[in-house]
Amino acid sequence: MFLAPSKIIARWAFNVQDWNPSKEQYKQVLLSIQSEERERIEKFKFFIDSKLALVGRLLMRFLFNKLYKIPWNEIKFARTKENKPILIKPESNPNDPIINFNISHHGDWVVLVAAENCRIGIDVMKVEYPKRQTVQEFFETLRDQFSNFEWNIITTPLQEIDQLHQFYRYWCLKESYVKAVGIGLALDLKTIEFHLPENDERMNISENVKQWNFEELYLDNLHCVAVSYSTLGDVDNEYASRQNLFALALY
Ligand SMILES: CC(C)(COP(=O)(O)OP(=O)(O)OC[C@H]1O[C@@H](n2cnc3c(N)ncnc32)[C@H](O)[C@@H]1OP(=O)(O)O)[C@@H](O)C(=O)NCCC(=O)NCCS
Repeated sequence: MFLAPSKIIARWAFNVQDWNPSKEQYKQVLLSIQSEERERIEKFKFFIDSKLALVGRLLMRFLFNKLYKIPWNEIKFARTKENKPILIKPESNPNDPIINFNISHHGDWVVLVAAENCRIGIDVMKVEYPKRQTVQEFFETLRDQFSNFEWNIITTPLQEIDQLHQFYRYWCLKESYVKAVGIGLALDLKTIEFHLPENDERMNISENVKQWNFEELYLDNLHCVAVSYSTLGDVDNEYASRQNLFALALY
């Protein structure tokens, strides 16, 4: 079987604090996305959640507008039964590379990744204290998703804020994998074990995900992000430089 080489074609991060539209502008922008998504976004209670979701939709649309050089309104997305957005129009040519993409939003950031010929997922998290629980209670509810090795690393720091940083780094890595696979809660995440690298070492991962690549970095002091992508063929930028992972997309 011929496997086309996989290649990451977009890594974008957008800080929603940099976009402060008037009410009128916001309404106009909302009109530029699909009606069912607009209705969903209009139901959010908090403006920040609406803004994060809207920017996500705009980035997806902008990706294919740029890539295929087609007008904004000829692009159509749907969702899989697990809710993962997919492109349905324009239909891809059998000879074209398969384009996969994924977005994530949390805190101040919306991030998007896209790749040719491989599955790809992304997760961004703001490192923050849980709102209605203590850190220990919050950890307890999610302990099962981590291996003993990982849990030891997470809980070793003396300060809770440092534990939260470790926790969210692992969380993003696991969640980016879940999102690349696109199957939500069905995975036993503690069987996917990460050994986070010090400095510029390579990350070690458990055997069951050896055909996957994982990358992580901080967008700022509080937001960590992870990307995972499968290796169907040659990967031309495996473990790309951590500093150059994201270009700011300020459009
Ligand atoms: C579906 C799921 C992956 C979404 O993740 P999230 O952290 O809530 O939100 P994110 O901001 O990262 O991503 C949201 C975006 O991912 C995309 N998305 C939705 N469902 C998806 C799926 N099944 N697969 C991939 N991407 C999905 C959407 O674009 C969504 O944004 P939108 O609804 O505004 O369009 C998550 O809710 C889930 O099921 N996780 C379960 C796995 C788990 O237990 N993880 C613990 C890790 S330790």
